[in-house]
Amino acid sequence: MNASQLAAVDLVVAFLATAAWIGAAVMLGTGRLLLARALCALAVTVSLGRVATTVALAAEGWWFAQEKVTLTLPLLLAGGVTAAVLAGPRVFGGARPAAGRAVAGLLTAGYAAAAGLVFPLLIGYPATWSAALLTVTLVGAATLITWRAAGLAGTGGVARAGTALVALAAVVGAGLAFVPGDTVDSGGVPSRLAASRARPVSALRGPTEPAGGGTVRRYELTARQATVTLASGRTVAAWTYNGQVPGPALTATEGDLIEVTLRNQDIDRGVTLHWHGYDVPNAEDGAPGVTQDAVLPGQEHVYRFLANQVGTYWYHTHQVSDRGVRLGLYGTLVVAPRGAASTGLDLAIPVHTFAGEVAFGTHDRADVRETRPGTSVRLRLINTDSTPRRFTLAGTPYRLVAVDGNDLNRPGELSRTGLRLPAGGRYDLAFTMPDGPVALLAGDDLMTGLRLSPDGSAPAVENTANWPELELTRYGSPASGEFGPDSRFDRHFTMVLDRGVRLSGGPKYAHTINGRAYPATPTQIVRADDLVRVTVVNRGFETHPWHLHGHRVLVLTKDGRAPAGSPLLLDTFDVRPGEVWEVGFRATNPGLWMNHCHNLSHADLGMALHLTYEGVSSSFHDGHS
Ligand code: C2O
Ligand code: CU
Repeated sequence: MNASQLAAVDLVVAFLATAAWIGAAVMLGTGRLLLARALCALAVTVSLGRVATTVALAAEGWWFAQEKVTLTLPLLLAGGVTAAVLAGPRVFGGARPAAGRAVAGLLTAGYAAAAGLVFPLLIGYPATWSAALLTVTLVGAATLITWRAAGLAGTGGVARAGTALVALAAVVGAGLAFVPGDTVDSGGVPSRLAASRARPVSALRGPTEPAGGGTVRRYELTARQATVTLASGRTVAAWTYNGQVPGPALTATEGDLIEVTLRNQDIDRGVTLHWHGYDVPNAEDGAPGVTQDAVLPGQEHVYRFLANQVGTYWYHTHQVSDRGVRLGLYGTLVVAPRGAASTGLDLAIPVHTFAGEVAFGTHDRADVRETRPGTSVRLRLINTDSTPRRFTLAGTPYRLVAVDGNDLNRPGELSRTGLRLPAGGRYDLAFTMPDGPVALLAGDDLMTGLRLSPDGSAPAVENTANWPELELTRYGSPASGEFGPDSRFDRHFTMVLDRGVRLSGGPKYAHTINGRAYPATPTQIVRADDLVRVTVVNRGFETHPWHLHGHRVLVLTKDGRAPAGSPLLLDTFDVRPGEVWEVGFRATNPGLWMNHCHNLSHADLGMALHLTYEGVSSSFHDGHS
């Protein structure tokens, strides 16, 4: 069992404990002593079971057990002891103290047990002093009310002392909620402290001339609403660049200068262009409120950067990005190596979901292409959705030659294998066209995808649903690089991802980083040339495709193990439930950068923060990531 499954078991156990304690109280209160006895025995057993799940979770990493060890388990034990003292003699001993007293004792244990269920679901990681005290307040208040009703603590010193304690916990807990330091150490600092610096983001621009024989590639993109017709004839109401979805395919050759003029015709909330995976100078990054203001209707903005990274990338709006990208504000960016004549079939394939149906580019039904045997083929898969997607390639062995634009080292031949592509990520597949047909499927769906066929007829496709999934960290061959898991790092940031109700930026059931939701997330600060290590822990039950702007990260370890295959240089990596990833990067691109989950609805619900270089400041504030 991994940490996520253990956490799920722990929730079930916490639920059973709650139900059993309260059930026992009800049975006793209604005079069914035998049932009460049985439920008490169950309650004690499952309560002890929580000790076991907590120990198992702690073994997976302290982050997975923190609030259980410091808060909910001690509460449960206190509740259990109370129940034993108040109800034990009545339930098991045959003694006849007042039934009300025993029922109140069992209810107290029930309230305490409920904290173990409610806290991880509603508050999540971490249990801060404030959250812990407020939880104790709630359990304490419920207990006091119950005891009063049972005549246990009507008046007198005990009642007054209890009330005073609960009130104190409430006041101190509420007060601490406003103390910025009441969080776990993530290596970050509050963004207020980070802001008071000098060098403006807007000064961090790129070169204005091509390099080494390149030319200037000029593009004009106008954002506007349009009704787009997919290949099947189905129409969708879209937000587009130049009236088309995907937007225009941008291409360049290494050394070219890419210059894109963005205009906004009628997207009221504004748009930008973010070059996903491209380590552009900070001012060209297209992060509204961070590197520029959003481009509103009637406005324009020019982006300029050198095509100095070869490979498969994509662009998308970063303003109201969840909605904007979903509705179509994205396109492909492919940069070819200089001097390499392109031969054969080279396709960039952004795969996107429109109103519940998947489309390869504009093809929402199988896209059949006549392809001569012997043709060298490169398929550039781009997942423009917010959730991971499984791909299979049938009919030929192939190699996964590049991930996120970066070539893998000695990738082996693959066949009958599922490839899981993170949201925002890219896979380049290469093979030589065989004599028979080839099919590329998404989600094992036989109705959609790409078909290459020697004679142009639509081939029959086999079912790929039970093909095993490639483990990327074991694919290809190791190679030594500038740094690795054992290097000395200048900085270490830890991000624990979870869910919980948060109030900053409007109350919501947020996706949190170290207990905070954007914009309350602390800024991570680095110095130029620092070697930075980042630990990402997923404590929740959803996948988080992590994406740092402006830098590619090297995978150091996944669940404690260094990759056994090719070095993996990524810009988006899927941290699945219960997983712990460690990645590293060299801080060589000064600026103020977004660092966020690329499930864009999660980012929208708070799962984002800033990473900034010392001495850089932004004057843009009105953005919305
Ligand atoms: Cu592809 Cu911040 O995003
Ligand atoms: Cu996420």
